[in-house]
Amino acid sequence: MQGIECSFRHAYIQRQALLDTGMNQRKATEVFHEWAEKGKDAGMERGHAPSVDVMLNLLLEGIDKPFSAIDIGCGNGWVVRKFAEHPLCDNASGIDGAVAMVEKAREIDPNGTYCLGQLPEWSPEQPVDLIHSMECLYYLKQPIDFLRNIHDNWMKSGGKMVIGMDHYKENPESHDWPQSLNVHMTTLSIDTWVKGLEDAGFEDVKAIQTGAKEGWNGTLVLSAIKPHRP
Ligand SMILES: C[S@@+](CC[C@H](N)C(=O)[O-])C[C@H]1O[C@@H](n2cnc3c(N)ncnc32)[C@H](O)[C@@H]1O
Repeated sequence: MQGIECSFRHAYIQRQALLDTGMNQRKATEVFHEWAEKGKDAGMERGHAPSVDVMLNLLLEGIDKPFSAIDIGCGNGWVVRKFAEHPLCDNASGIDGAVAMVEKAREIDPNGTYCLGQLPEWSPEQPVDLIHSMECLYYLKQPIDFLRNIHDNWMKSGGKMVIGMDHYKENPESHDWPQSLNVHMTTLSIDTWVKGLEDAGFEDVKAIQTGAKEGWNGTLVLSAIKPHRP
């Protein structure tokens, strides 16, 4: 009896340790590496395209001089290639931590700039004018801290950022994704994201939800500007 009790207790302690450390969860970049190998990046591109259209319109409206841009969590690089098509785009690059995603991006577009890197550690050599990120930042453990990093180290003054996310507190349909994918996701409210951007130093912070329908509250799209400092 004592042996059974002991092994139950051992299993319980092991499970708690895994839950406490999150060691039973997979890294998002490993999961998306597999998705790229299975060709699931193309479906993701199709699924995200309507929201990304809205995001790029917001980001590019009023642009009248040459710009540089980065797509954070670029997947197979499709948004980087959209940037590159813009007549005023000087330089477009993407960064992703999934090996097969970056390999695929480089295969599709051998002249493009696609960096393999882990966030939040990776940062660009030069700050850029425009930042785009679709369905990536909530995979980070401390996404709000990362917003300050982007503001301080990734962007030029006067630069603009647009972030899109389907997993957030006000979109309950997305709440079981961490369990179903077995990947960490940080579930934040719209107000927390907006305040995080403002606290990081961004101005003109706006939040909209696009593509909402019954049972789906849409993609949360956040836009923000890094102010000019004298
Ligand atoms: C849901 S996919 C979106 C890909 C692309 N933005 C799109 O819309 O098709 C999320 C991407 O973020 C990347 N990602 C997630 N966490 C990351 C991290 N910590 N460092 C680098 N990339 C990460 C994944 O590898 C994946 O390609």
